[in-house]
Amino acid sequence: MAYPEYRARRLRDHAIFREMIAETTLEPRRLVQPLFVKEGLDGRAPIESMPGQSQLGLDELVAEARRVCEAGVGAVLLFGIPAHKDAIGSSATDTEGIVQQAVGAIKADVPDLAVICDVCLCEYTDHGHCGVLDERLAAALARRAAYSAEAAASAAKAGSPPPKQDRTVDNDATLERLAEMAVTCAEAGADMVAPSDMMDGRVGAIRDALDAAGLEHVPIMSYAVKYASHFYGPFRDAAENPPKFGDRRGYQMDVRNGEEALREAAADLEEGADILLVKPALAYGDIIRRIKDVFGVPVAAYSVSGEYAMVEAAAARGWIDREAVINEILLGLRRAGADILVTYWAAEVAARLA
Ligand code: PBG
Repeated sequence: MAYPEYRARRLRDHAIFREMIAETTLEPRRLVQPLFVKEGLDGRAPIESMPGQSQLGLDELVAEARRVCEAGVGAVLLFGIPAHKDAIGSSATDTEGIVQQAVGAIKADVPDLAVICDVCLCEYTDHGHCGVLDERLAAALARRAAYSAEAAASAAKAGSPPPKQDRTVDNDATLERLAEMAVTCAEAGADMVAPSDMMDGRVGAIRDALDAAGLEHVPIMSYAVKYASHFYGPFRDAAENPPKFGDRRGYQMDVRNGEEALREAAADLEEGADILLVKPALAYGDIIRRIKDVFGVPVAAYSVSGEYAMVEAAAARGWIDREAVINEILLGLRRAGADILVTYWAAEVAARLA
């Protein structure tokens, strides 16, 4: 059927029919609200690059969790900012650590809210990387320093940038730390854990550790596909976790790759992931769709800090219709195939939908 037999406008021109045939829906039950809890903070500290979002002290965190729950949001995703940071991120696995305390406080006061803990070391390490550093590699690089200096000089002469190699994260040593963090969070009462570190094998390590601790009922939402993205900029203010040297491209995914996302997703499912998360969201609708189509499992999309900041900044200047744009972004992610939306707008949108 083609024009003039087919007229797409027939169903568009009538508001009731438009509603009848709408394919995609947005419901509060699909939303997850990220929250930042900071050890030793009294009250709240606004995050400059994320207007409307704050770091929260423990008391404020519980109050905020109550508001989020009352708005109809099902779950919060917790990030802890500890008072003490060191090379191995000791505070991440402290049973009295800030995030473990936070889980307990929320579960005691707002039992109807599900608590998901982000599992990663970057907020807890003094170097800001998502795992413990590979000391063997550091030593090997030091031995090669003379060679590197020579290579850099000849590259400079040839007009190309000098070869760059940073110290990196020790994958397998990090797995133990992550597994321990997941267990302490789950023992504190977390309803789900969400590893965001991008080490190889961490879903399996966490699953094994949870099961060994009698926590086989706790699901894993894996950041299976997490890109080395510049959209995380504002988050690094919020979580106080920028790497002190180098960057995260040694473990997070290359923005140019889509096939690799499928391999990452397959590996995490094989290791026991219950939900696959794609992050960032806005520029990655194709990845969300491919993962949903190929694996047919629950998929979450994380609309990250930079996406939030862009919308808030443009809206503050009156350049876009803020609420309409937020709805359009979230609906777009649903249309791409996301079942769950992790968004800093969760509570606001849920309250509006109610
Ligand atoms: C790392 C982590 C990051 C985010 C969530 N978990 C940042 C990073 O990888 O540097 C980013 C979230 C956002 O930008 O909103 N644990």
